[in-house]
Amino acid sequence: MSDLVQLTTDNGIAIITINNPPVNALSPGVPEGIYEVIENIDKDGSVKVAVLIGGGRTFVAGADIKELGKMASGKGQRGEGMLPMLLRIEDCRKPIVMAIHGTAFGGGLELAMAGHYRVAVAGAQVGQPEVKLGIIPGAGGTQRLPRLAGVAAAVEMCVEGKPISADQALKLGIIDRLIEGDLLTGALAFAREVAGKPALKTRERHEKLGTAEQNAPIFVAACDTARKKQRGLTAPLAAIEAIEAAVKLPFDKGCEAEQKLFAECLFSDQSKALIHVFFGEREVAKIPDIPKETPLLPIRSAAVVGAGTMGGGIAMVLANAGISVLLKEVDQAALDRGVATIQRNYASSVKRGRFTQQFVDECLKRIQPTLSFDGFPSADLVIEAVFEGMALKKEIFRELDRVCKPGAILASNTSTLSINEIASSTARPEFVIGTHFFSPANVMRLLEIVRGKATSKEVIATCMHLSKKLGKVAVLVGNCMGFVGNRMFGPYRREAQFLVEEGASIEAVDDALFGFGMAMGPLATGDLAGLDVGWRIRKEYRHLQKPGIRQPFCEDNLCELGRYGQKTGAGWYRYDDQRRPASDPEVSRLIADWVTKADIPQRNIGADEIMDRCLYALVNEGARILEEGFALRAVDIDIIYLNGYGFPAYRGGPMWYADSVGLKNVCERICEFHKQHGETWAPAPLLKKLAEQGKTFAEFNKQHTATA
Ligand code: NAI
Repeated sequence: MSDLVQLTTDNGIAIITINNPPVNALSPGVPEGIYEVIENIDKDGSVKVAVLIGGGRTFVAGADIKELGKMASGKGQRGEGMLPMLLRIEDCRKPIVMAIHGTAFGGGLELAMAGHYRVAVAGAQVGQPEVKLGIIPGAGGTQRLPRLAGVAAAVEMCVEGKPISADQALKLGIIDRLIEGDLLTGALAFAREVAGKPALKTRERHEKLGTAEQNAPIFVAACDTARKKQRGLTAPLAAIEAIEAAVKLPFDKGCEAEQKLFAECLFSDQSKALIHVFFGEREVAKIPDIPKETPLLPIRSAAVVGAGTMGGGIAMVLANAGISVLLKEVDQAALDRGVATIQRNYASSVKRGRFTQQFVDECLKRIQPTLSFDGFPSADLVIEAVFEGMALKKEIFRELDRVCKPGAILASNTSTLSINEIASSTARPEFVIGTHFFSPANVMRLLEIVRGKATSKEVIATCMHLSKKLGKVAVLVGNCMGFVGNRMFGPYRREAQFLVEEGASIEAVDDALFGFGMAMGPLATGDLAGLDVGWRIRKEYRHLQKPGIRQPFCEDNLCELGRYGQKTGAGWYRYDDQRRPASDPEVSRLIADWVTKADIPQRNIGADEIMDRCLYALVNEGARILEEGFALRAVDIDIIYLNGYGFPAYRGGPMWYADSVGLKNVCERICEFHKQHGETWAPAPLLKKLAEQGKTFAEFNKQHTATA
């Protein structure tokens, strides 16, 4: 018998324990081990009933995602053991009681559902999260779950992929009893009650499947919602189709339908991309020159300077994580405005059910508004979020250096300025770092952590660690203009404007990228963020522009007319008082006028060219960033784009997308653009090199330390 699955007995009750730490994943050997044990139990006349339980901190948390990844890329073999093992459990003549603690996700829940009974502790969770990896349950989950929980609940669980609590699972009929106290003791007591009773097979239960008439509207509504809320994803629709098969076909035929859909999903580009994202989110936490054991500085209290758009959101994020925050402003009016916005945001979170009133009251108590630096000496971390201007930031950091205790981390939320220069205004540059939150800071998951040339490893490790507590995905980046995300966003939005100048309509540009899967088109995004932000920066840096390089002019012209985007009711689009966009013929007329004056030839431009121009502009800049070492790995850039810029997760991020198109193809297209449009399209040296070598960005693992 394998070490992964152990069998003991206790007064006629067999106890099957799965021991595959850390999460009892169904790696090769586990299904086979369970099969063998069930065979023995069936034969053993002294055994009347069995309990299957997970050793350690959880039941079976799911399939082995590494194995899934190998299978998706055609390198691994699907373990043949899972389906026969589940049937073998169901066919066992002695009742098998599944005892659940921790999580029973994916294959774990599929295993549990093959048992004849399920019991769980109150803290346990169950779910079918496969859609998050671009696949569907592949071991009978879509067939057994509707039989236990009903069609509507099964659809919801398989399509959204969200876990449910043991209590909800009890109400739905997925589990039969909640166990108080020790799980094994409770499960054994339950087993004694059911010993000798007929072993009910889930696959033979039909009472919750409903009729075709009852189910039709459920499937139609689920498809509509999935098409809207999970736009572009194929797995949610496949999950619905598989559940439809459960309702319409006998169990074995339903399983065949599930298998076919599972395989289609698994071998799709979407699942490869989503598995890449799953591992990517873990990978970005690893920094080659900062070992896991690096000591962390304690962060118990914090302070934020500036209570504007970003400062207010950052204060909320810290307070939500249980950290007390001083929030400093220049005058009472600004402070009151900032606090009022925070209160409004919290109130709307309560209204939407995200937070309870009690939680919000506690958070608000943690945020202490102030006009002075009085409480600052006790802060472990200060985050500066004042206006974007070097002179002002340096002045603030000089003051922070003077008032803060030794060992306090001094962070800036700057989106464009040099962390090195800001740090130079202090006597402790090793404690200065960039924490670049994205707007709205209390919502967006991304946090770019900017490493200055002097920033200490302890400070970086502390900020990376803190980000988890704040519910953020942190990516370490180097100190270059715009850091990683915004540096790439520049060329992307530049191309969107060039396309409009060359004859594409505003709607055509946005529709093409929305169709690709971006949360919003590039021009609509500009309107949302405020066109004036970039306009002001461009004015400040105009002296650095190289002569003879084409610059887009539409946004600057729009700003000159006071069209800043949503906040002024007009930008690329026109907005009503609820900020709903509409095409604006006035803008089209203005642009036609400007391009005639600039003598730019007009032509028809298709969606393919729009996508290639915008997306490859991202990729080309990403390649430079990677080669220059401002991002550690291609996957770091991907994670930034997925969490901060609305790039569709099922495309894996810009660098992964380029890899999937093939760098040779991407490079050829960029060379065409170079010929047509000049120097802005010079292919990045790294892209050219990898394309020539037939390699991918993912294989390029230069592992810089992301410093500059
Ligand atoms: P904001 O204009 O909304 O807020 C800045 C606040 O700082 C104002 O309330 C102002 O009264 C206050 N302030 C100015 N001098 C101060 C001082 N000496 N002491 C205390 N408070 C002072 O600006 P926003 O948008 O919040 O930007 C803040 C920083 O965050 C900037 O560095 C910006 O580049 C960066 N950032 C902005 C993003 C955005 O989308 N708005 C995104 C990411 C970063």
